[in-house]
Amino acid sequence: MNSNVVKQGQSVIVLAAGKGTRMKSKTPKVLHKVAGREMLGHVIHAGLAVSPEKTVVVYSHAEVQEYVTNNHSHHNSVCVEQKEQLGTAHAVLACEDEFTNFDGDILILCGDVPLLTGEVVERFVTSHKSQNNDVTFVSAFVDDPTGLGRVVRDEETDEVRAIVEHKDANDMERQIDEINTGIYIAKSKVLFDLLRKIGDNNSQGEFYITDIVAIGLKEGLNVGTFTAENAEALGGVNSRQQLSYAEDLYQNALRDYYMDHGVTMIDPQSVFFSYDTKIGADCELGPNVQFGKGVRLENSVYVEGNCYIEDTYINDTAQVLSFSHLVGAEIGHKATVGPFARLRKDSDIGDCAKVGSFVEVKKSKIGYKTSAGHLSYIGDAVIGNEVNIGAGTVFANYDGAAKHTTTVDDNVFIGSNTTIVSPVKIGKGATTAANSIITKDVLAGTLVVSKVNRLDREDYIRPAKQKRESEI
Ligand code: UD1
Ligand code: CA
Repeated sequence: MNSNVVKQGQSVIVLAAGKGTRMKSKTPKVLHKVAGREMLGHVIHAGLAVSPEKTVVVYSHAEVQEYVTNNHSHHNSVCVEQKEQLGTAHAVLACEDEFTNFDGDILILCGDVPLLTGEVVERFVTSHKSQNNDVTFVSAFVDDPTGLGRVVRDEETDEVRAIVEHKDANDMERQIDEINTGIYIAKSKVLFDLLRKIGDNNSQGEFYITDIVAIGLKEGLNVGTFTAENAEALGGVNSRQQLSYAEDLYQNALRDYYMDHGVTMIDPQSVFFSYDTKIGADCELGPNVQFGKGVRLENSVYVEGNCYIEDTYINDTAQVLSFSHLVGAEIGHKATVGPFARLRKDSDIGDCAKVGSFVEVKKSKIGYKTSAGHLSYIGDAVIGNEVNIGAGTVFANYDGAAKHTTTVDDNVFIGSNTTIVSPVKIGKGATTAANSIITKDVLAGTLVVSKVNRLDREDYIRPAKQKRESEI
């Protein structure tokens, strides 16, 4: 959308250009993840709750711009570069050109507050509009305000007077336990004029957005506060400690959410979810289960302890047993996977199928009631229904140059330790004897025995000196 046609309602600015030096990381701070999603993603998502006309992300690192373009462009997001990090007021001013024809409210969020929810944003915007304020910001009462901006109020009227940064605060002000969460909303008509009046005469030599409070009041504007209840969740992340704290709070919220929706966890504290994990009722999760992005479990799925599951769909009543690692798989109704199974990208495990211990599957379809119980590699295969894959079967799908596909029809019996050199077709109901190497197509209903390296009874090696009676 052309940046100059936006007119009504509210828009959002997300500040994400800060250096994040306290993280000691090559990755820009706002791209560190909480519950599998970049902090910036959580914040952009929370802002969407008020249906913004547009979301402007202020960045300085190219990775941040790339992230927004790749993940949030469909939400009418644009990126604006802040060339020098001269402070939060300077960052907002950098967006001015995006709002030349916009006269609604501008909501300003910080990209390092991953626990901000759409619900808080909505209530905040509603409160600002109903107070008919020019500027409103979110304050919170916290046990330990160290490092945060303090909300200074008039001793008699209790009206807000200013926000004072920790580094600029005197001893009295440092006693204040009401802090600025870094979430603001202002009428666009007054916002940029106020920002231009802000100076950098403070301990950090930065242009602080927090000064719009004192300056706005001086100009006779209505400046108000909105006090957030869930204060803990609104502390920003500046260090790895705070990142792990945010993760902890987020995970606890998810654990409660799933338990409220009928999921049993033996040891909830040891189960880790992604922000987008979907779990049906009556699922049961053992200890030390971790979910990466993109997992959906239908009802009554059982996941035993010590499994990692990512980008996977699991149909109802399937079972995933201990120490299984599943990424990019689909598991059918009543199927059993593991213990010690590895399912890689595009593994499609059919209903009632069984993938047992030390079986690795990649880009393969395994049919209804088919079983691969032990010690196999199944890659680039299309396997029909009720097939038995014997222990030690290997699909040799790679000839050093290309990957090839093998088809195994219904009711085939693959004997133990068979090597299937792809591409081949094994016809319906065929059997391969143990230890066969299959290099050609096998006709339906046939038994194939390949004799390579095979010892039969008469081949047993005798001690060198001992001769058979017939030879004497
Ligand atoms: C800020 C507030 C403080 C508040 C706290 C809440 C200021 C001056 N202080 O402090 O009152 O209690 O948040 O978490 O605003 N950023 C830019 N460009 C810059 C500087 C920062 O985009 O030039 C971005 C950062 O990426 C970050 C956000 O602005 O997302 C806040 O900056 P940060 O340095 O974390 O401010 P705090 O010291 O936490
Ligand atoms: Ca911060």
